[in-house]
Amino acid sequence: MSVIETRDLRKTYGRVEALKGVSIRVEKGQIYGLLGQNGAGKTTLIKVLLGIVRKTDGEAELLGRPAGAPDARRRVGYLPEDHQFPGYHTGYSLMDFYGALYGVPVDERRRKIPETLELVGIAGRMNSKIRTYSKGMKQRLGIAQALLHDPDLIILDEPTDGVDPLGRREIRELMQRLKERGHSIFLNSHLLGEVELICDRVAILQQGVLVREGTIADLTQQKGRYEIGVAPGQAFPADAVIKLGYSAIPVPDKPELFEVSLTEGQTIDPVIKLVYDKGMQLRHLVERKQTLEDAFLATVEGAEPGVDTRPRRPRAARQVGGRDRK
Ligand SMILES: Nc1ncnc2c1ncn2[C@@H]1O[C@H](COP(=O)(O)OP(=O)(O)O)[C@@H](O)[C@H]1O
Ligand SMILES: [Mg+2]
Repeated sequence: MSVIETRDLRKTYGRVEALKGVSIRVEKGQIYGLLGQNGAGKTTLIKVLLGIVRKTDGEAELLGRPAGAPDARRRVGYLPEDHQFPGYHTGYSLMDFYGALYGVPVDERRRKIPETLELVGIAGRMNSKIRTYSKGMKQRLGIAQALLHDPDLIILDEPTDGVDPLGRREIRELMQRLKERGHSIFLNSHLLGEVELICDRVAILQQGVLVREGTIADLTQQKGRYEIGVAPGQAFPADAVIKLGYSAIPVPDKPELFEVSLTEGQTIDPVIKLVYDKGMQLRHLVERKQTLEDAFLATVEGAEPGVDTRPRRPRAARQVGGRDRK
């Protein structure tokens, strides 16, 4: 069953086209990452699914129901981007407040709040004021808040943004644990290195258009490029390889290795056979892989991940709460 499905989804804010026909499908039990620079449309997609903003055109379904349907919304846990929990609450009192809001009965709250805070790793600080929490602890509290009512789907908008490297790792480990417990997770991120480590599938959004979609392996496999090297003292037969119709260029800084690229329909096997036919021994053969960041940069022309393309908005009001964002 799919937990999220959109077909040709469009959303415009005045003259800004935030989503220009996006079709994605997220299966149950997965960690699915929606990636893209700031301003790409990621938050808008979540807001349409949850009924916070209205779609302009196309289809959007959440847990098999039309986007915004209250019964589906109740089965979702949501960590909003840039949330500000009131600093005068403690972790426990905030959870109690949200639990009541979600209709979790008192007895159940009393049992589940410490349990959930334990799961996210902040139970030891649940009676301290939120204003004393680090950004990483606030994010983990936000995730706990999203879990309290046992949702079928957890939606996290930039869960690791503004969190230090150790905190990021803890949040990734937490997401992994949640997945192992059978939760489906949909997350937004402009931080590619993070997502690569935990997502089963990703979609890359650029200026409201879905440019790539697939498993991390799909997106990072660069087919048909090999690093190849023969035994010491032997000279790789580059000219003969080129005569066979391959490109063969020395690898910079590794003179003993050549990079052999295949074109459509070619395999590496004739190159290997040629090496053996010449009486040489193969000592190195590695298929070249990209990182997700390489794939992203190759996809998003001239773009740097993390660059904010949104028009400037006043931030002063938000900084009162002490956001430690760059
Ligand atoms: N409430 C709004 N009114 C007008 N424009 C908006 C609004 N929210 C978002 N946008 C614009 O829509 C585009 C996508 O924004 P957003 O969904 O927040 O992207 P992301 O989450 O990927 O950073 C941006 O150009 C942004 O400026
Ligand atoms: Mg966003």
